Amino acid sequence: MIDYQPLIQRWQDSALAPWAELLPAQIARGLAVERYGDLPRWLDALNALPAIVPSRIHLNRARVGADCDPPLAPAALAALEETLQGLHPWRKGPFELFGVHIDTEWRSDWKWQRLQAHIDPLAGRRVLDVGCGSGYHCWRMAGDGAAEVIGIDPTPLFVLQYWALQKYLQQPGVWVLPLGIQHVPPKLAAFDSVFSMGILYHRRSPLDHLQDLKSCLRPGGQLVLETLVIEGPEGATLVPEGRYARMGNVWFLPSGATLLGWLRKLGFVDEALVDVSVTTVEEQRATEWMRFQSLADFLDPTDASRTIEGYPAPRRAIVTARVPG
Ligand SMILES: C[S@@+](CC[C@H](N)C(=O)[O-])C[C@H]1O[C@@H](n2cnc3c(N)ncnc32)[C@H](O)[C@@H]1O
Repeated sequence: MIDYQPLIQRWQDSALAPWAELLPAQIARGLAVERYGDLPRWLDALNALPAIVPSRIHLNRARVGADCDPPLAPAALAALEETLQGLHPWRKGPFELFGVHIDTEWRSDWKWQRLQAHIDPLAGRRVLDVGCGSGYHCWRMAGDGAAEVIGIDPTPLFVLQYWALQKYLQQPGVWVLPLGIQHVPPKLAAFDSVFSMGILYHRRSPLDHLQDLKSCLRPGGQLVLETLVIEGPEGATLVPEGRYARMGNVWFLPSGATLLGWLRKLGFVDEALVDVSVTTVEEQRATEWMRFQSLADFLDPTDASRTIEGYPAPRRAIVTARVPG
């Protein structure tokens, strides 16, 4: 069921040929059973998904998914739900498959709503979504007409969640690869749009990350970046000591103005801060599809404007910028 050959073949005579050559080994490593002890269990869940022929596919609504005529009988619905639960935790979504609402930890559709009006139209474009999780936004990009969407994420569970969706959505232009940004060959200059959302603060060298994203873009291509920020003037940056909102791997939280300055320094143009939103406990919360702790547990119980460590609570910015054309 997991088959990347069509993509590798398609890329063979394109600007992405150098990457196509590396992909078989990268994919084998990214989904190696020896590296990920839970992988066999997740693969079992994926392989246990029933064959259902969708009547309608929904890529451009909040709950990405499919439905069928006639609707599933209650027993089949319960069986599908149980199998999909085998891929717990579901973090990015929501999805709805044949009546099963996968109510994920995040309302990722809200992020999509915040950025959709501000980005270059995706129709016909080749897009890279770095750190795409289960691929929720990749489906939305395809729904907006992108010709090819390549998501990369090194967490194998999320890649299998993508394959679970792909089993039913059958989109030949949407792919999620089990890789990190460090596996993308340098200087590809092949993508019309590159998204990096929820990644920059996890990178120890944020300017290197921005440079890596730039080298994926063709001249004139657009970067869409979403990351945690703080309030403050240009130059302000928070480097949390220890954890931030219980996350151990958070490095740099710039102010919006600092972030725009970083982009200019790297040679991006047309940089713009298009949205700043404080993350709410309605947008990120525990559900029956993500039964671990979530944002409400990571905030100061007496002051929701602070994290449990005393830092400013999560505030996220969306910026766009372009590589000179
Ligand atoms: C906070 S989530 C963001 C998901 C999605 N982009 C969104 O905005 O909803 C961060 C994602 O980055 C992935 N990630 C971790 N290390 C990465 C790396 N080196 N390269 C690319 N993605 C990475 C994680 O597996 C996780 O799915």
